[in-house]
Amino acid sequence: MSHNSVLIIDFGSQVTQLIARRIREFGVFCEVKNFNIPLEEIKKNLPRAIIFSGGPSSVYEENAPKISPQIFDLNIPILGICYGEQLICDMLGGKVEKSFEREFGKAEIEIVKDSKFFKNFKNHQVWMSHGDHISKIPQGFEVIAKTPKAPYAGIANEEKKIYGVQFHPEVYHSIDGAKILKNFVIEIAGCSPDWSMKNFKDEQIADIKKIVGDKKVICGLSGGVDSSVVATLINEAIGKQLTCIFVDHGLLRKNEGEQVKEIFTKNFVTNFIYCDAKKLFLDKLKGVSDPEQKRKIIGKTFIEVFDEEASKIEGAEFLAQGTLYPDVIESSHPNKGASQTIKSHHNVGGLPENMKLKLLEPVRMLFKDEVRALGRELGVPEIVVSRHPFPGPGLAIRILGEITEEKIKILQEADAVYIDEIKKAGLYDKIWQAFCALLPVKTVGVMGDARTYEYVLALRAVTSVDGMTAEVYNFESSFLCEVSNRIINEVRGINRVVYDYTSKPPGTIEWE
Ligand code: XMP
Repeated sequence: MSHNSVLIIDFGSQVTQLIARRIREFGVFCEVKNFNIPLEEIKKNLPRAIIFSGGPSSVYEENAPKISPQIFDLNIPILGICYGEQLICDMLGGKVEKSFEREFGKAEIEIVKDSKFFKNFKNHQVWMSHGDHISKIPQGFEVIAKTPKAPYAGIANEEKKIYGVQFHPEVYHSIDGAKILKNFVIEIAGCSPDWSMKNFKDEQIADIKKIVGDKKVICGLSGGVDSSVVATLINEAIGKQLTCIFVDHGLLRKNEGEQVKEIFTKNFVTNFIYCDAKKLFLDKLKGVSDPEQKRKIIGKTFIEVFDEEASKIEGAEFLAQGTLYPDVIESSHPNKGASQTIKSHHNVGGLPENMKLKLLEPVRMLFKDEVRALGRELGVPEIVVSRHPFPGPGLAIRILGEITEEKIKILQEADAVYIDEIKKAGLYDKIWQAFCALLPVKTVGVMGDARTYEYVLALRAVTSVDGMTAEVYNFESSFLCEVSNRIINEVRGINRVVYDYTSKPPGTIEWE
C-alpha cells in the first residue's frame, strides 16, 4: 500500500465496501482489511488515515471484534463509524451501553462545534443504524455534533486527529456524507487525490511485466466486462505471451459468441482460441431442470473443456482471472460463513486443479464501475465495457426447467428485442441488469383467427449498486406494451409477456 492511502478496518458492517467506494470516488486509494490484521502488517506500510467501519456487534460483548490499542500510538488520523466510534470510546476510557430503543433511519444532526471535519457539509440529513449508545466520551474528546437521540453523534479529539460518528456517512441516505469522508481524508489526514485509472493502468502493466517475466499466461474470456478488461490489460503488458481461451457454451445472448470472436481477433494481436462446445453443453444438460444441478454441470463441463484447451499451451505458468474487489472483501469479511448460500455463484471458470497455474488477478482491487473505467482507458469497445452483468451459466438459468435448443433460440430472439428497445429508449445505462426469462408454462392466445398455445416470457429490469440488493426498474407502461407487442409479433414460440415487479430481497435478480 502506498503512503498516500487510507486503510479501512472492517468490523463486519454490510456497508463497509461503500466507505471504500466513496473514498476512491474522490481520487484517494484505499483498502479494506479484516479487523484481525496484525499491527505489524499495518506498520510495514503505514497508511495516511485509518477508518474503523461499523459492525453488528456490541463492544461490551465478550467476543466483540477488537483491535490492538497500540493502533493509537501510530499517530495516524483515525475515524470511527458507528461501531467504530463506540470502539474508540471503549478503548480510550469512555463508556458504551445498550439502548432501550434501536435508532434506525434518517436523522438530522446539529453541528455544535465548527470543525474542518464539517467543511461544506450543508445537508444535515444522516443515516443512523445502532442499538448501543455512548454514555461517556473519553478524556480529550469533545462533542462536535448531536441529534435528539444521539448526544454523541459526532465526537473529536482534534489534537490527536481522532474522530467518531454515530451515523453512516458512507451511505447515500446521508446526503452530504461523502463530504465528511473527504474532509477527513484530504483536509485532516492530508491525503492527495491523485489516484486515477491512468495511474492504475500504468502501475498494473509494469507489475504484470515484472511478475510474468518471459512466462506464458492463459486467460479465459467470457465476453463480459471483467474478463475482457483483464485480457486487454495483460495484452498491453505482455502481448504474445498471452493466450485467450473462449469457451462458447451456447448459452450466450444472440450473436454474442461471434461478437467476442470478432472483437478480440480484430483488436488484439493476442493468441485467441475459440472453442465451440455448444453441443457438449447441450448434451450434458439434457433432461436437467434443477437450477443448482444446471450450475454444477455447467461449471464442471466448463472446467473440463477449458482444461483441455489450456493443457495444449506449453509452458503456461499463469491463469488470469477477473476477480473483483467485492469478492476479495467478501472472502475476508468477519461474518463470512454466517450467511446461507442462496445460489452457488461464481462456479464457472475455476482453476483447473491439475494444472498448478499461478493466479494473476490484476483487477482484484477494483469495483465493477472502476473496471469499466479501466476498460475505457484501455480502449475496450463501449459495447463490452457498458454491458450489463451476465451470469456464468448464462441463459441456462433464464430458461426455467429443461433446456432445449429450441428454447435457447426463442429466448435469444426475445432478449435481443427487449435489449434493443431499451437501448433505443436510451435506458440501457440507467439499468443494472435487464433480461428475459422463458417460463416452462404455455398459455392460450389468439393470433389472427387462430388459437395459439405458446410459452410465457417474463421481462426483468433492476437497478442495483452491486447485485446484492436490487430495485425494480419502473418503465413507462407504454414502453412495456411496445416491447410485448414486438416480441409476440417477431418471436415465434411466445404468446404472452409479463413484467416482474419483485425487488431483491425478497426475490433474487435471476429467476433460478
Ligand atoms: P441473484 O440472482 O443471486 O444474482 O440475485 C445476483 C447477481 O449474480 C448473477 N448471478 C450469477 N453469476 N454465476 C454467476 O457468475 C451464477 O451462477 C449466477 N447466478 C446469478 C446475477 O446475474 C446477478 O448479477
